[in-house]
Amino acid sequence: MTEIFSMEYYADPFPTLARLREHEPVARVSPPFADVDLWLVSRYDDIRALSTDRRLSVDTQLASERFRTSGLAMGIGTAWEKAFVVNPADNVRQRRLVGATLTPRIVEGWTAVITETVSTLLDNLDSDLVQEFGYPLAVTTIGTVLGIRQSDHELLRGWADTATSPDRAASTQALTDALAYIGEQIEIKRKRPADDLLSLLLNASDGDERLDEEEVTAIAGNLLIAATDTTANFFPNAVVALLDHPGQLALLREDPTLVDRAVEEVLRYSNPVVLSPGFRFALEPIELHGTVIPAGGTVGFFLAAANRDPLAYDEPDALRITRATTTHVGFGHGPNHCVGSALARLQGRIGLTGLLERYPRFGIAIDRAELRHRVSPFMYGFDRLPLILG
Ligand code: HEM
Repeated sequence: MTEIFSMEYYADPFPTLARLREHEPVARVSPPFADVDLWLVSRYDDIRALSTDRRLSVDTQLASERFRTSGLAMGIGTAWEKAFVVNPADNVRQRRLVGATLTPRIVEGWTAVITETVSTLLDNLDSDLVQEFGYPLAVTTIGTVLGIRQSDHELLRGWADTATSPDRAASTQALTDALAYIGEQIEIKRKRPADDLLSLLLNASDGDERLDEEEVTAIAGNLLIAATDTTANFFPNAVVALLDHPGQLALLREDPTLVDRAVEEVLRYSNPVVLSPGFRFALEPIELHGTVIPAGGTVGFFLAAANRDPLAYDEPDALRITRATTTHVGFGHGPNHCVGSALARLQGRIGLTGLLERYPRFGIAIDRAELRHRVSPFMYGFDRLPLILG
């Protein structure tokens, strides 16, 4: 039996996730990389219900000391904790104000920037879809949208890379540097507001509600990090899933208007986020399927398991871009679902359309079995995806 978080698991997590979903829907796990117990939930209905359950909180201040010192969450003890992972009242206020700056209508306004970035990256794509397309598209988009000048995008990419690395000291330093840089940019935007997300966040208001400068700094840092690894991995995952299902790829090439449904199906079938890094903390004991999660327990959602739950989907292990059910939990669910989902979807649509148009015959340049999966408890994707472009 494959151990969770073993190298065998990382190479293909889905059989293990299927076993957990069926036999241990609330699995108590002590991961090899952190001295902490986790209660990992894997069924679709349970994750949706727990995502809106008030007996769970995202406030990292309420997490056990073991969790806070485990290195499992980024930025514990730094200004990073001023955004999103805060008490319910601040969380609701922040989410409302940030959400208003990232609505589908506002995000559509960034179509031209994304289209131009996709086009330039495709012009220069040599082979590796991960490093030469996914990451630069993700960083250029969030950097431009935030209003950061192009010449500093490499800095952003470096911080985003290091912040998500398992080396805690390096990660904390990268977050601290990123937040200090964003603080400087905020000073500039205060003097000269522009038509960008940082300026929108600084001026966001709803009645008496606003975001203070520390919050805007931490929120922008969160947006940068949360937007990078996720979006970057979406494209290799989409291409591999489509190449593994040639009938679906042919269908999409025949009818490009299916692209939005293809994006949703990839987010279900091979979502970049296997296990949500947004842990929840039990405010009181919670019993589920005979397991008691104790008060203070740390709860994690195996989104990739839920997205292939046979009780929620027909033929869950197959990619079907014309599926009737599209309500996946690839962006999470409930009050803490992904705040950048509209921007992620827009990049998915433009990026995938561009790839399909520009390269009508792309294929994997190496043996499929040689593709190396990422070794990450949270992310699903590939280290590299060398393509033959044709
Ligand atoms: C394909 C791309 C993306 C995927 C699959 C994705 C997925 C997710 C997931 C699963 C969560 C956690 C939900 C939970 O625990 O309930 C999340 C949270 C978040 N995402 Fe995304 N995301 C993507 C792109 C983006 C982008 C482009 C942005 C920024 C513009 C972004 C910003 C955030 C933020 C700030 C949070 C934390 C929200 C909170 O804690 O309240 N994400 N995302």
